[in-house]
Amino acid sequence: MRFSLTTKLFLAILTVCAAVMVMQTMAMRYGFEQGFLGYLNDQGRQSMNEARPLITAAYKKHNNWDFMRNNLSTWIQTLRPPITAAEIRRGPSAADQSGAIVRMGLLDENLSWVSGNPSVNKDSMRLPIIVDKNTVGWIAMVPFEDVLAPGESRFLESQLRIMILIATVSLVIVAVFTFLIARSILRRVRNLAKGTHILAKGDYTSRIAPGARDELGTLADDFNRMAQALENNERTRRAFMADISHELRTPLAVIQAEIEAIQDNIRSASPESLSMMHGEVQQLNTLIGNLHQLSLTDAGFQQYRMVTLDLTSLIRHAATSMNVRFQQADLSLQLDLPSYALYLKGDESRLQQLFSNLLENALRYTDSGGQVLIRGEKQSDTITISIADSPPGVTPEKLDRLFERFYRVEESRNRASGGSGLGLAICRNIVEAHNGKIQAHASALGGLEIRLQFPAL
Ligand SMILES: Nc1ncnc2c1ncn2[C@@H]1O[C@H](COP(=O)(O)OP(=O)(O)OP(=O)(O)O)[C@@H](O)[C@H]1O
Ligand SMILES: [Mg+2]
Repeated sequence: MRFSLTTKLFLAILTVCAAVMVMQTMAMRYGFEQGFLGYLNDQGRQSMNEARPLITAAYKKHNNWDFMRNNLSTWIQTLRPPITAAEIRRGPSAADQSGAIVRMGLLDENLSWVSGNPSVNKDSMRLPIIVDKNTVGWIAMVPFEDVLAPGESRFLESQLRIMILIATVSLVIVAVFTFLIARSILRRVRNLAKGTHILAKGDYTSRIAPGARDELGTLADDFNRMAQALENNERTRRAFMADISHELRTPLAVIQAEIEAIQDNIRSASPESLSMMHGEVQQLNTLIGNLHQLSLTDAGFQQYRMVTLDLTSLIRHAATSMNVRFQQADLSLQLDLPSYALYLKGDESRLQQLFSNLLENALRYTDSGGQVLIRGEKQSDTITISIADSPPGVTPEKLDRLFERFYRVEESRNRASGGSGLGLAICRNIVEAHNGKIQAHASALGGLEIRLQFPAL
């Protein structure tokens, strides 16, 4: 059987109410029997104790019970001798006030009834009356429960009536409460379901109002964050696809136009046109290679083989291999690295790619006669590497965009130099896969500074 949330909630609250009511009734009965009746019986026992010497004295006077047998007035007088003024002043004892005397009776040594309450018998609560070390009789008392029997059922009946009344009122309250709670909760659950449905259909703009700050509110917040991430991803994917097609189409269009011109005999296949086409093909090749790197370095896609590495030797190696090209470009490349090793957990070939991309940029985007400085240091558990160069730099508002795919500061100038705008995006992927951070700043040398931070070992 399938219950709706409202029904389940209703049944749960109702069950709790019913359980509380039953337990409360049981506790009341237990308290009444153990507490109140127990107290009365204790009082009765105390009364019997008080009466015992009076009855013993009476017996001693007559040496048998005949004077008392079937003689209620003697029984009463024996138990209650004339009241003295002192007694009135003192006030009656609690035992007297519980009506214990009327419940008392006398049994002889054979436990046969002699006088007093006719209901007392050998099963009653009793105390022996001892004369000269012989038990000559018993003072007995009807327990309060027995006296109460008819009244008790009345008590139970009234309890039952109260219970039914409470149950009816509870049912109404539970129904109203469940309805109100369920209505507000279900409205939010339905909103969540509706939002999810819209999202599942591919509309990533779907959002949900979180409502109250509770678990459903958190769920709605998380949903909105997820929808936002999906929306961003989708936007980036579309832009990326558009960029890729555009980047691929441009060199292809140039090559196609060139070939068609040769075919139509508008132009001859001169060494210049061939070298121009070769250049475009090379650019396509670089672009495709970079796209491939980008997809490989995307954290989550690429299996990074993390080992313990020393960043200083890795940087030294990258700088040495670029040295000749820096000299040719009339740029000075300086290293300011600590004498100790900078250990981290990293993938060697990916980190090599990171530094070669950054040095390639420094080489490409620094005017000749300038300088490039690589600094490294370790503070507590963070390794910081900075690669700073002299002009040209990047205007502050463009600094953050450098890491976007296909972003180039000066489109035409960089295209001429063969840049596809993917290098820094690849760098960011690699750094993030190493749990690091990459940022671009204006450098003190007047150009650009790329600052890297990695968790040190
Ligand atoms: N050291 C630098 N100094 C000045 N500008 C730079 C520097 N490094 C990068 N830039 C600017 O940032 C842009 C993005 O760099 P990125 O490395 O991502 O792409 P790219 O160098 O143009 O192409 P690719 O690296 O894919 O061949 C560059 O086009 C350039 O305009
Ligand atoms: Mg680059």
